[in-house]
Amino acid sequence: MSDASAVCDRLTAALAVARMAWAEGAQEPREEAAIQGEETASPLDAAALWVDHAFGQVSKGAPISIRPLRRSIVDMLFVGVDADELWMDVIRASDFAKHAARVARLALLVSEGIGLSAQDRQELGVAALLHDVGYGARSLAPEQSSPFAGHVRTGLLALAPRGGATQGLVWRGLVALYHHHPASTLSETPSLPARIIRLAEDYDHLCHHAKAPHSPWRALALMAGSGGSLYDATLLQAMINALGCYPPGTCLQLRDGRICWSASVAREGLFDRPRAFCADGSSLDLAEDGVVARVMEP
Ligand SMILES: [Fe+2]
Ligand SMILES: [Fe+2]
Repeated sequence: MSDASAVCDRLTAALAVARMAWAEGAQEPREEAAIQGEETASPLDAAALWVDHAFGQVSKGAPISIRPLRRSIVDMLFVGVDADELWMDVIRASDFAKHAARVARLALLVSEGIGLSAQDRQELGVAALLHDVGYGARSLAPEQSSPFAGHVRTGLLALAPRGGATQGLVWRGLVALYHHHPASTLSETPSLPARIIRLAEDYDHLCHHAKAPHSPWRALALMAGSGGSLYDATLLQAMINALGCYPPGTCLQLRDGRICWSASVAREGLFDRPRAFCADGSSLDLAEDGVVARVMEP
């Protein structure tokens, strides 16, 4: 990144924070009526549905309803972000929203490992759900040449004008602006939430790349060498510790020939023996049954 670009980003961030402060005292919009199907969806699916709703609001120039996004994060934290039910596939949402929900899930898992407070985790989760909201707000910066190039600033602009100068608003702004920055360039920036989202962002893209997806196991292995440069080394280690050797979704062949998919994050003392499910729908616990022979790539 050029010096000019870095200065521009910092000025944009300063402007956004100033606008947040100016807007202090503004009211949260009334909570929307629940969107169809949200009551029966898992917290992760509900989060994705509300992300799509937020994208729709931003594309129309309307303020984003934060409260339902926050509620879905609170529900995820209540269930427990290490619960197997939260590591199933996200359904019934756009690809953008599925990505945002998965990034939020992983960010919450990392935040548990580093001991963030409950309030901070809540703010981090909301910021994660909105980290790419700039893709829905292109009209705010139509001069940007490509969606990727523009989405960090349009995201910041979409998030900035609302509410007071709360920690949540500042974190959302920091995450929107810095979630693609290498950690090594953010040493002078209060960027903890952005550094967490950067990890979750890259992990999710590696696992769900449209043309060349990697297994979660391979994604972790690819990222492991970039601690201290692309990624905050401490946070990266926390993510590896929390996901375990075979993160959920990793396809495994066992020594007896069975094929199964990891379904749980690391458990106490069980870094490389997750719960899993087999092709026939049966479940097994690798702590009790089965030895991994190899990882199968997609
Ligand atoms: Fe992004
Ligand atoms: Fe993203």
